[in-house]
Parts: sequence; structure tokens; C-alpha cells
Amino acid sequence: MILNQWYAILPSTAVKTHHIVGVKRLNLDLALFRNDNGKLGCVIDQCSHRGAALSKGKVKGDHLQCPFHGLEFDPKGKCMFIPANGKASTADISRYNVKHYLVKEANGIIYFWYGDIENASNKLPFFYDSIDDSYVYSEMEDHWHSHYSRCIENQLDVVHLPFVHHNTIGRGHKTLVNGPMTQYEDEILTTSANNAVDVGQTPKSHLDCEIRDTNLNFIFPNIWMNHINHRMKVVIFFAPVDDENTVLYIRFYCKLTNIKSLDRFIAGFGKIGNRIIERQDKRIVITQKPKISALKSKEKLLKGDRPIIMYRRIREELKNR
Ligand code: FES
Ligand SMILES: [Fe+2]
Repeated sequence: MILNQWYAILPSTAVKTHHIVGVKRLNLDLALFRNDNGKLGCVIDQCSHRGAALSKGKVKGDHLQCPFHGLEFDPKGKCMFIPANGKASTADISRYNVKHYLVKEANGIIYFWYGDIENASNKLPFFYDSIDDSYVYSEMEDHWHSHYSRCIENQLDVVHLPFVHHNTIGRGHKTLVNGPMTQYEDEILTTSANNAVDVGQTPKSHLDCEIRDTNLNFIFPNIWMNHINHRMKVVIFFAPVDDENTVLYIRFYCKLTNIKSLDRFIAGFGKIGNRIIERQDKRIVITQKPKISALKSKEKLLKGDRPIIMYRRIREELKNR
């Protein structure tokens, strides 16, 4: 994992008011809860008393109550009450505090700060220039037995299109890979497929290719967008579970008609398409070895793997920072 980043870990709708959700993200067992006022909290899913999962407890007003012996914690993990000691107790109970994590919400996404809380930036990664409130979206999720780096690389891979997606987005047998042009600007990595049918020509260098209107974008650490056109996009956030598992949240954003109910209907069809394509990718990506990709590896990359090389380089740089 890259430290000191906001990771998109769940859709906001996954944690309802007055509910607790236990999830594993970034190798951590987390209990996320929303109090009656809708405010979100996140603590380690392990009680300081005798280790029970706090996510099995309940929300009591502003507090999270452990299901085992009723210890209560505030959204910052501070122990507020120990029923067995009685209401009259004035003893210092700070040693029962549990670790809390910083979470924020925007764009219908729960972001988790993985790093030192003092270093937390205010900027939550998203494609703000491309997607605004005029869009509606549909969403699906799926679990892949893959490290999130592999899932991301797959979404930047233009070489796989005519093989993995031969009957969908990669039809036409365009096996020859021109470029692709790849750029990294304003913290967004962008590339676009420029593949062609092989009639014996030499593939164009990336310098002779350009970023096309339909293009692929990625923001570190884990959000990707297919900019299909100015009215439709696919966004995926790859929530890292652990070193071998990822949950993908795939959204189809649409403002084709600017009538929200109609756009929602269209987005529903987009979701069906997303599912078909996602299944094609998943079948292959989960087989990749080793599970985690790396800049220095034994893999023998191709010219067309340029976006993947760039992803690995930047990832390495951010990890070393
Ligand atoms: S284990 Fe949580 S209160 Fe005892
Ligand atoms: Fe694919």
C-alpha cells in the first residue's frame, strides 16, 4: 500500500444511519458506523476489553456499544462508559480507548486515510472536472481474488482488448498496438487505445499517437475512469482488502438526456454492460502471478504496456516518498 493517501473503500450507502458495518480494508479489520445524525466514524473492529468485534454491537446515540459487555466508544474510539463499573464511577478509563481512523465522504464514496492523521490532506481524489451533479449513476460491486494493483493495471491495459474482450469492447481484431500515448498531468494518469488491424504495418510510436476523446484516466491511489464521451463515463474504485483481494465498485455515470429518471434507466443498462466486461477481465486477472505487481519484476513488458509501466513508476515513487 502507498502510505498517506485517501483510499476509496466503500460507497456511502454501505453504512446506513444508526448502523455498523464490519469490513476488511487495507489489511485492517474496521468497524464503520453512522450515528443518528448521519456522522460517520471508523474504529478498529476489536474491543479493547476482551477482543470482541465491535461491528456486532450497536449504535447508541453518538456511541458505539460493544456487544459483549457493553463498553461504549465515541466516534474517535474514546471509551465513554463501562456498564460493569457503574454510572457513578469516576475512574480514568482512557486505557480502554480503541484505535480510530480518519474517514471522510464525498461523491457518494467513503474515503479512508491510510497514514498519519497529522498528514491528512483535504483533497479527496475524484474526477471533479469530468463528473458533477448533473450526472446520475448505477453501481455494481464484485470481489476479485487479486491485489488491487493488478486490477488497476488491467484497466490501463490496451494490449488485452482484442483478446479478453474479443466479442465486446475489443471486437474488430485490432491486435496491433500503436503507442499508446500516456501522460501524467495534475495527478491524473491518462491514456487511450490506438489499436489497429495488423496488415503488416509497423506500430506507431507513442509520440505519433494522441489521447483520444475516449480515454482512460487514473488517480492514485485507487480510482479509475473511462471517459467514454461528454455524457457517459465508467468509474471504478478498487477497494483493497488485503494483499490478495480487492472489491471493485463499478459505476456507470450518465447524463444522456438530462432527465434524471431517464438517465437512471439508461445507467441501469450501462451496469449490465459493465458486468459483462468485468467478468471477462476477472476470469484472467485473478490468475496473474505474482499477486502484487511491482516496478522491478521478472515480467517482460511490451512497448504497448507503457501505461502500466507509468503506473508502476509513479506508484513506486509515491511508496518511497
Ligand atoms: S469485549 Fe467488548 S465489552 Fe467486553
Ligand atoms: Fe478489460
